[in-house]
Amino acid sequence: MRWSQAFLPVLKESPADAQIVSHKLMLRAGLVRQTAAGIYAWLPIGFRVLEKIEQIVREEQDRAGAQEMLMPTLQAADYWKATGRYDAYGPEMLRITDRQERELVYGPTNEDMLTAIFQGSARSYRDLPRILYHVQWKFRDEIRPRFGVMRGREFLMKDAYSFDLDEAGARISYNKMFIAYLRTFARMGLRAIPMQADTGPIGGDLSHEFIILAPSGESEVFFHKSWETLRPAEDYAVDANDAESLQAFVNSMTADYAATDEKRDEAREASLAGDLRQSRGIEVGHIFYFGDKYTKPLGFTVSGPNGDPVTPVGGSYGIGVSRLVGAIIEASHDEAGIIWPEPVAPWRVGIVTMRADDEASVSAAESLYAQLTAAGVETLYDDRDERGGVKLGSMDLIGLPWQVIVGPRGIAAGTVELKRRSTGEREELSVESALARLTA
Ligand SMILES: Nc1ncnc2c1ncn2[C@@H]1O[C@H](COP(=O)(O)OP(=O)(O)O)[C@@H](O)[C@H]1O
Ligand SMILES: [Mg+2]
Repeated sequence: MRWSQAFLPVLKESPADAQIVSHKLMLRAGLVRQTAAGIYAWLPIGFRVLEKIEQIVREEQDRAGAQEMLMPTLQAADYWKATGRYDAYGPEMLRITDRQERELVYGPTNEDMLTAIFQGSARSYRDLPRILYHVQWKFRDEIRPRFGVMRGREFLMKDAYSFDLDEAGARISYNKMFIAYLRTFARMGLRAIPMQADTGPIGGDLSHEFIILAPSGESEVFFHKSWETLRPAEDYAVDANDAESLQAFVNSMTADYAATDEKRDEAREASLAGDLRQSRGIEVGHIFYFGDKYTKPLGFTVSGPNGDPVTPVGGSYGIGVSRLVGAIIEASHDEAGIIWPEPVAPWRVGIVTMRADDEASVSAAESLYAQLTAAGVETLYDDRDERGGVKLGSMDLIGLPWQVIVGPRGIAAGTVELKRRSTGEREELSVESALARLTA
């Protein structure tokens, strides 16, 4: 992409209405614009990041055996009446009446609808287990939308739903999602800590929130210091088809203490002494077992292995895809701007010409841009007629992992500067070596 032709509206000044750093940077770097309270339009650069995050989420869901589908945003209220949630859900649910006076809701979640859809076609135990998911916009009429996309009213969520014959099976589905979540967040360069969360009336231990540590987070969290180091996604390789090793792995990942405010354990905290840490955190994912909460009111049964009817049990598994854009920025930025982890960066490389009026620089940059693009390297070329300093500032702000800085003096000697955004390290290289490095 050529910056001169892009819609990439960066702002010099920090917008006054934004309180936290990720919201400020998302506005300044031209990722989003608010269109109504808690509702955002995703501009091209923001949309690229959103899509990358979505793709990682998708790959890890697929890898765990979940199947993607797509349910609509608007749902007939009847689905909610059938499970008894229509009245229970409260004012967060946006209720709409169409011209035929039919009641609809803008879906805040999809348990009710999907259970009904699945019920329509699942007949026997052989139709189980299944994990189905979609990535779709949700609406929750939050009383206090704030912090930009972190707590929006309309937001993009990946929500998966599992159906199993019994609780032992449901636990396997849960564990598969548990690992998928660890891998998903690690691939985005995030250290997400699985914390025991409230299970509500069902009880048990099958609910975890995945939390990123950040001072702006809405939750107060307490954990063993071992969680302070990030583990790469490869460390989470476990054979998901072997229920025992799956369970052993989940046990090992939940052995070290980690709890949100509501689930604190004083005795365990006391035993940790100096190893206890406290921080604020952002919830980026939440997995939950709810048994027959939705299948039972719908009278959903399948015929079991011995022919008797069995009520399937299930869980749901959410990831805040749009919230993650903000969460990643909270975890990865400096005074100059965003520092995108490579897997979610809108482009991998940014080329900057220091002097747009220097022919040799421009032709070197043009050729670099053409070659990088031809090699499949996602590149943004800042070819604007602006001062070099301004362009470097914009490039730092939007946070691409690599910058190639092309200036008249270097080009005269056949060199460019390669800058790594995360460390600020700059290296002078021949044009060929820079190319080789970036296409390796
Ligand atoms: N208002 C919101 N804005 C952005 N993301 C949200 C919002 N509410 C929930 N999410 C994301 O969706 C995930 C699943 O939602 P869920 O656990 O049902 O929400 P909550 O914790 O608010 O009850 C959360 O972990 C979070 O990442
Ligand atoms: Mg939650």
